[in-house]
Order: sequence, then C-alpha cells, then structure tokens
Amino acid sequence: MADLRVPALRWAEPPDGPVLVLLDQTRLPADEVELVVTDVPGLVAAIRSLSVRGAPVLGLAGAYGVALAAARGYDVSEAARLLAGARPTAVNLEYGVRRAVAAYEAAGDGSARAAAAALAEAHALFREDAEASARMVAAGRELLGELLPGGRFRILTHCNTGALVSAGGGTALAVVRAAHEAGELRRLWVDETRPLLQGARLTACEAARAGMPFSLLVDGAAGSLFAAGEVDAVLIGADRIAADGSVANKVGSYPLAVLAKHHGVPFVVVAPVSTVDLATPDGAAIHVEQRPGHEVTEIRPGVSVAPVGTQAYNPAFDVTPPELVTAIVTELGVVSPVDHGTLAEVCSRSRST
Ligand code: MRU
Repeated sequence: MADLRVPALRWAEPPDGPVLVLLDQTRLPADEVELVVTDVPGLVAAIRSLSVRGAPVLGLAGAYGVALAAARGYDVSEAARLLAGARPTAVNLEYGVRRAVAAYEAAGDGSARAAAAALAEAHALFREDAEASARMVAAGRELLGELLPGGRFRILTHCNTGALVSAGGGTALAVVRAAHEAGELRRLWVDETRPLLQGARLTACEAARAGMPFSLLVDGAAGSLFAAGEVDAVLIGADRIAADGSVANKVGSYPLAVLAKHHGVPFVVVAPVSTVDLATPDGAAIHVEQRPGHEVTEIRPGVSVAPVGTQAYNPAFDVTPPELVTAIVTELGVVSPVDHGTLAEVCSRSRST
C-alpha cells in the first residue's frame, strides 16, 4: 500500500473562486475522498465533525479559513470568531486564526492586499509546520536512542498523530515512522481510540501504508500489555500544553501515563511549540471539549449499542500532569524534566538555532 494520495489539506484556486480542499478523515480508511470547502460555515462544520482534525492541521485550517473569508469577502472578524471557537481544546486552531488575522489587519483591513497577506501567512504557517515536523522527528529519534539504547523499540501510541494532522509527517507517529524506516521499530501498538476510532481508522491506515509492524488493541488492553512487559515507550501528541507542562491530548492518554509511570516506561509527548499555551497556567485551566453522547452510545451513526435514553460522558481529551511526562519533544528542543521553567526555556529559543 502506498502513502495516502490526498494531502490532509490544500488551498486551491479554481476559476469560480478559492477553496480549501480537505481529505475527509471521517471517511477513512474505506474512502479517500476530498471535501471541498467554499465558506467559513462549511469549514466550521468540517472541523466540528472531525473531517479535518489533529492539532497542527487545525492550526492550518484556522489560518486558511481566515484567508478564505478574506478572499471571498466575508466578515473576517466574524470568521475568526467562528473558526477559533469551532473546537476549544486544540490551541493550534486559535493560534492559526490569530496569525492570519494579524497579517490581514497589518496589511490594511478589507483590501485585496490584506486578503493576500492572510493567505501568505497561512502558506507560511504550512511551511513552518512541515519544517517543525522534520525537526521533531530528528529530536524524537535522538531521544529514543538515549532512552532505549539498542533500538528495536515496541512503542504504544494513542489517537492519530501522523501525516493526517500535519503539512509534514506529523508529530509522534512521524517519529515512529522514521524509527521504522531506520529498522529500529519492533512493533507499534495502536490503541483503537474510542469512541471515534482515530487509532483504528487512521493510525492503523498510516502504519499499514508505511509497512510498519503494528497491532491494534482496544484501549482497555493497554494495561495487560504493560504488565506483560511488551511496551518500551509511549509516544503521543498533544492538543494543548499548559505553562506548567500539563498535557491535554485525546481521552485515554492520561491512563496510559499512569500505566507508564507504574511500569517504569518512558511517556513521551511530541508536539510543536505552537501547541504550548503559556497563557494557560496549569492543567485545571485547560478547557476540555465535551462531545455529544451519541458518539459513545452508537457504534455507527444511528446504530445504538446502549439502551434508549442512556446518558454518556464523552470528553474528547484528558489532561496528563507534568510529573507523569518523561519528555516533551518540540522542534526547538526536548523539554525534560517537564516543568514550568524547562518548558518556558525551550519555547523561548529561536527557530534559527
Ligand atoms: O479529536 P482529535 O482527533 O482532533 O484529537 C486529536 C488528538 O488528540 C491528537 O493526539 C493531537 O491533536 C495531536 S496531533 C499531532
């Protein structure tokens, strides 16, 4: 199997006006189809439904969404408000929106030049994201070599953090893929990631296409896998990292961190610095998105697995405290141990170093 044919997101300019073209991730792995977005409400719906998802690419969607609004003559501040609020936990979304709005406003509100500036900023963010991904891969591989000398790792991952979430190879899964290509990956354990199955549908798809040795497990099987000594490291991404180093990521990440601590296994987060939010002081201050209960009570839209009227608890993310995180790999360096000071220091580094 080859890599996915369609990129997660691309800007296009057909004769009837600019559009944002998304790979509809809700249709994977069965169908690899594009979703053409022509306006901001359409993009907000695509973000909410997870047609486009994962922190870094949400940042790109936010920036291109502002560019789309500007190019098509929509109210840019209203577009920015709608886009930034489409999903509350992944800070990259508001970061991307903010960057494009700042470029738009600096170029003279409302002009064609301003629309071009917003688009140029979205393109710049796209290039930065691809470059950040490559740098995280290099830093992540080096860290794995230090943590697990001898290679041939068995890595557990959760949710999806590969090329589907990035202009580049992604975050945690990009590191795993590079380790695989270097002959260092013994096995990738892929949590299915209930309820929306980003692990089963997306990570398994990327792993299969890259030829990785991988096994899919139900989220609840991770404990016995650790107990059997089958996990050498956990590698995950992040949606928001607070100033104290607390990490919000897909629900189910925190239990993995507890298991990793108990079993003496490194728990490594791979995320660009755009996912670090120094304005959010700690984990308690992170807004965790609550999703509709039907995602839990139904196995597929309209196919219920619970008695009619069942109420569900469906947080999209959980928060792992810094003391459970071995390291955070960013494009500017590795944060370890993870605390307020070490995180702030790495974030203050210049991109050119
Ligand atoms: O709800 P999702 O699928 O958008 O959640 C995505 C995750 O939790 C990812 O792990 C996170 O965004 C990191 S992607 C590099």
